[in-house]
Amino acid sequence: MKWTDEVRYLPYEKWGNDYLRKLESKVKEAKWRLDFHIQPKTGLLNDPNGFTFFNNQWHLFYQFFPFGPVHGLKSWYHIVSDDLIHWRSEGVAIKPDTAYDSHGVYSGSALPVGDKLFLAYTGNVRDETWQRVPYQMGAWMDQDNQITKIEKPLINQVPEGITEHFRDPQVIKYKNHYLMFIGAQNTKKQGEVLVYQSDNLLEWKIKGSLDFIEESMGYMIECPNVVFLDDQPVLIFCPQGLDKRVADYQNIYPNFYIVGENFDPERCKINHVEDLKLLDAGFDLYATQAFNAPDGRCLSIGWIGLPEMEYPTFKDGWAHCLSLVKELKLINGELYQYPVKEMEMLRKEEQKMVIHDHSFSLEGIENSFELQVKIPYSSIGTIQLYANKEHNHYLCLEFDTVKGKLTLDRSRTINPINLKYGNKRTIELKKNGGLNLTIFVDQSVCEIFINKGQKVMTTTYYPEKDQNNVYVEGDNQYLIKYYPLSKTT
Ligand code: FRU
Repeated sequence: MKWTDEVRYLPYEKWGNDYLRKLESKVKEAKWRLDFHIQPKTGLLNDPNGFTFFNNQWHLFYQFFPFGPVHGLKSWYHIVSDDLIHWRSEGVAIKPDTAYDSHGVYSGSALPVGDKLFLAYTGNVRDETWQRVPYQMGAWMDQDNQITKIEKPLINQVPEGITEHFRDPQVIKYKNHYLMFIGAQNTKKQGEVLVYQSDNLLEWKIKGSLDFIEESMGYMIECPNVVFLDDQPVLIFCPQGLDKRVADYQNIYPNFYIVGENFDPERCKINHVEDLKLLDAGFDLYATQAFNAPDGRCLSIGWIGLPEMEYPTFKDGWAHCLSLVKELKLINGELYQYPVKEMEMLRKEEQKMVIHDHSFSLEGIENSFELQVKIPYSSIGTIQLYANKEHNHYLCLEFDTVKGKLTLDRSRTINPINLKYGNKRTIELKKNGGLNLTIFVDQSVCEIFINKGQKVMTTTYYPEKDQNNVYVEGDNQYLIKYYPLSKTT
């Protein structure tokens, strides 16, 4: 298939059922499909959208292009869950079928209002000269999950001083008003987050540009997302083209966050901000969305994948997945991210709890498990995941708790990816401290939680058949728990 613009933007009804059925069976057979991560049945998934709790269920949508592993004409795909772990498909929920979203129903958010769910998204339109025109659009979902688009755009014009890059509305209720945060690029080619306000969700007035940091945030900010943790605002966002002297990162585009002291909506200001921090220190996480759930938790989910990168599943007709659902907490002013407690229900067998001297191995296992490794202070060693018996292909975690370093190295592989951005990621830890790792391995993705979520490293990795062993080697005793996990997909 040649993915010309014409093919990518073909209306959904022009693709025959036959085509989709064939693609479905091809994807079913594909070798790197996942066991407990949200993945598309066919085609490409990217940003999570509209993550919320409504009508006694968790609802989640994602950016979806059904017909191939490319960024084509996007829609919102809808899934629901009772436990944040098992998800039921509701199918394509918002299609690009009006003059205001003809070239894609782009990212956005959801907010329960009365007995309905309010959805906000960006309608992406291209004119005859292929010039992009964005509209901020709304829709209502009722108790039967029926969605009705609001005909008139919520915001039908790009404000002055902003280019056509104006998208990804997040709507929240703050005090007595509704607020909308939108990712944007200004005409000086700088990234901004714009703030709008409304009392009725239909008419929106611009309040200004969110003031949260002095430095320029690259040339565009995508997917801004504000949540409150212990009343402190946390802004999660994706700056593109950010100067590495402002904050270091290695992926093409990073997902960053800042923690504020308080939020002043009148002045559009997040006060007393700490340094910018990477939300994920691995290779493949982007577009994280979080919300304050009615049970008091703050929950997040991200896209495991990055824009403009190549992944080996493309040849099998599918691309990308979502991360595990994580709970966010502020502990001593630091953001912690850890998979929700509900994840424990996937543990299949009694845990194996062993203290091992120097080396530990698990051979011939399914690459679908949770592994916890407790490493004492003053210890140096490696954890090989997806290892073959010859020890030449594996995903490696190198730890050194003396120097306080942890390196994720994905260089030993038959299927390398995106080498231009390096194949090692290192994080600094407290020197001479202990280290606690919780690792989730699911076929071709791996999420690593360091010290109960103080840091996270998310990566994809593409093993071959014989890469089904785990080896832990070091100079000390390690407490290891291993849980094979059940399949949810
Ligand atoms: C981020 C993003 C958003 C946009 C969406 C389109 O990955 O580019 O800015 O709304 O994806 O699929």
